[in-house]
Amino acid sequence: MQKMATHQRRDTASSHSSSSLYLCIVFLLAISSTFPTPTLSAISPRSRCNPADKRVLLQIKKSINNPHHFHSWNSTLPCCDWDYVLCNDYTHRVVQLNFYGIQTHFQIPAAIGELPYLRFLNFAGLPNLTGTIPYSFTKLQNLESLIIRRTTLSCPIPDFLGQLKNLRQLILSYNQLSGHIPASLGYLNKLALLDLRWNKLNGNIPDSFGSFNFDDGMGFMLDLSHNQLAGEIPKSMGALNFTSIDLSHNKLVGDASVLFRENTAARSIYLYNNRLDFDLTKVWFPRNINYLDLSHNRIHGSIPNQVIELDLQSMDLSYNRLCGKIPFGGNVQQLGAKSFAHNQCLCGPPLPTKCK
Ligand SMILES: *[C@@H]1O[C@H](CO)[C@@H](O)[C@H](O)[C@H]1NC(C)=O
Ligand SMILES: *[C@@H]1O[C@H](CO)[C@@H](O)[C@H](O)[C@H]1NC(C)=O
Ligand SMILES: *[C@@H]1O[C@H](CO)[C@@H](O)[C@H](O)[C@H]1NC(C)=O
Repeated sequence: MQKMATHQRRDTASSHSSSSLYLCIVFLLAISSTFPTPTLSAISPRSRCNPADKRVLLQIKKSINNPHHFHSWNSTLPCCDWDYVLCNDYTHRVVQLNFYGIQTHFQIPAAIGELPYLRFLNFAGLPNLTGTIPYSFTKLQNLESLIIRRTTLSCPIPDFLGQLKNLRQLILSYNQLSGHIPASLGYLNKLALLDLRWNKLNGNIPDSFGSFNFDDGMGFMLDLSHNQLAGEIPKSMGALNFTSIDLSHNKLVGDASVLFRENTAARSIYLYNNRLDFDLTKVWFPRNINYLDLSHNRIHGSIPNQVIELDLQSMDLSYNRLCGKIPFGGNVQQLGAKSFAHNQCLCGPPLPTKCK
């Protein structure tokens, strides 16, 4: 987590959202991955290797040109035993590749597209990864999880990722990705987690983002925070039944009330540090919401009485243009004065200002 001393409480809140993201990732990996079972016999079935996959892996090694990290990728050994590689126990096809901690300069090898059974592909913690996401990835029609995280990749997100129809999670956070978010991602109809936070993405949130509708029982999570996204939140997103949404630290304007409906699965909504401007008076907060941060916007109106019925772990409405009496009851007063500070004319506890 990126820590900012001045935003301590908010960081605590957002670390909740990211830990739930990570629980989700771990869970997704655990339920769907076919981890090789350890065997005692030296000639375990795991040791086999599909010759076509092996050829591709050796080609990848060559293109990365990194003998140190890839010394286990030795053609005299079965490729399913190599580091960073995981095969299916029965088919011996490569299903997972994990590139992490490699410090040397390299680009994403296009040859990865020639591993047709790949389901999980991870690039993480690669400070010298540059270039683009290769078009050959469109051939990875079994891919369920693509993670490119904490790299220096600065290309735009390619439109063709929308062709990976089996993607359940797409995590491209903490890179330097630029340009617009392609509308095609909205049509990935198995996607349960889309995490694009901490990049340099600009332009609008695509209208197609109201189309995410996958329901695997865990709910949909969207994180576009810490980018340079502008314009309004598309009205179409009112159709989303998400469990968690984070659009904070962007340049979004206008109305965010479409994201608030009473009967949804939403547990956390983070919209802080934008230029949102709408009337909070008529908003219905989702019944199950635990974390809400709307601070540092231009939201007006008053706080709906319904907040006293909610099980709020944290709620920050500070630095807006709200007015009127703070509803009394529930755990609203326990949230503390800071949650309501710097508004136009809010009054009543926990603020010291008396209502007239
Ligand atoms: C592969 O392993 C063999 C046997 O352990 C070794 O002799 C050879 O040098 C290795 N090749 C590479 C390219 O590391
Ligand atoms: C890789 O990244 C590190 C950290 O940013 C940097 O110090 C190093 O010079 C880079 N190495 C290469 C080969 O680019
Ligand atoms: C949203 O999803 C939750 C849980 O899956 C469900 O109970 C609720 O009815 C849904 N709400 C809408 C508006 O679809």
